[in-house]
Amino acid sequence: MMEVLSYDVARVNLRFRDALHRAARSVIDGSTFILGQELEAFEAAFARYCGVEHCIGVGNGLDALMLALHAAGVRAGDEVLVPAFTFIATWNAVSLLGARPVPVEVDGSGLMDPAHLARAVTMRSRAIVPVHLYGRLADMEAIKAVAREHGLAVVEDAAQAHGASRNGCRAGGFGLAGAFSFYPTKNLGALGDGGAICTNDATLAASCRMLRNYGSQVKYRHDTVGWNSRLDDLQASLLSVKLADLEAANDRRRTVARCYHAGLSGLSGLDCPDTGGHDMVWHHFVVRCSDRAQFQEALVREGVHTAIHYPLAPFDQLSYAGQYDRTRYPVAAELARTVLSLPMADYLLDEEVSYVSSTVARVWNALHGF
Ligand SMILES: Cc1ncc(COP(=O)(O)O)c(C=O)c1O
Repeated sequence: MMEVLSYDVARVNLRFRDALHRAARSVIDGSTFILGQELEAFEAAFARYCGVEHCIGVGNGLDALMLALHAAGVRAGDEVLVPAFTFIATWNAVSLLGARPVPVEVDGSGLMDPAHLARAVTMRSRAIVPVHLYGRLADMEAIKAVAREHGLAVVEDAAQAHGASRNGCRAGGFGLAGAFSFYPTKNLGALGDGGAICTNDATLAASCRMLRNYGSQVKYRHDTVGWNSRLDDLQASLLSVKLADLEAANDRRRTVARCYHAGLSGLSGLDCPDTGGHDMVWHHFVVRCSDRAQFQEALVREGVHTAIHYPLAPFDQLSYAGQYDRTRYPVAAELARTVLSLPMADYLLDEEVSYVSSTVARVWNALHGF
């Protein structure tokens, strides 16, 4: 029996080991750890990769969202439209600014459903945060049309979508700004916390640069109240090493996804994500099934480890208890009950991918008497 983990961050970094050590050594032997050349070099390279003019490295993905939303004008009392199903950070970024997350029902892939978006707009709406969940782009054309009509800013939550593209435009380049996370398990992961804001808007970029550094452009001059949220040079140097390989890594994920799809899409009752359409980057490969707990346990017995992204929608979390009518978001609630992420990583060997695919099919059929 083979053992395939849901994700193994040590394996991701192993093939960069020597280059990462060299990069770290060079920062350690230098004297600039904050706002130095390594950060500048990474920001320039990541902006180029995303096809945008500006990149501002920050402390993590949550801060990237908060700073971008603040720079876009979101203030206490405003409303921000967010998907009803996402990782909690999307909602927390809004709440921590004193604004209110307004859920928009999602489609079967967990993406903000533009058909529900316009109906959720009110006089207080200030911004929209579409999430490119699992590495799949939200319908940015339709979302931007609603934003234009109502004068709202669009800040993409691209934490799971480094490199995802449609018609030549990459995640982070569609809205006023895009927020990225470099949490170690992301498609582009640091060896600690990290994040970035991407934008083509020079004014917003300048604001974000100040906001990440105590509202300062010039040392000991503070034009506005700001955060301390800077991507440090050590992480930036490590990220530069891994960025050079990101396209190849995303391609490998696409191959894995195609193999899973070929092996699993015909199974009755197991909902498999579709692989057609635009260029997604498969942060997760998420199937849906009604008897998830039983299926997950049976898979572990065969060495296939899975994960759940996410077991509760934000409106069902204790942190938002009593604030939302969950019956208004049945698709989001259903996703939380049924989603199951299969092992997905660029390091997976062909034999591991085949093992996962054939085991998932075999276990599914055995459970359902096929
Ligand atoms: C969709 C989404 N948004 C935001 C974040 C927040 O990123 P971070 O953990 O770097 O703060 C994450 C990941 O953790 C995420 O998956």
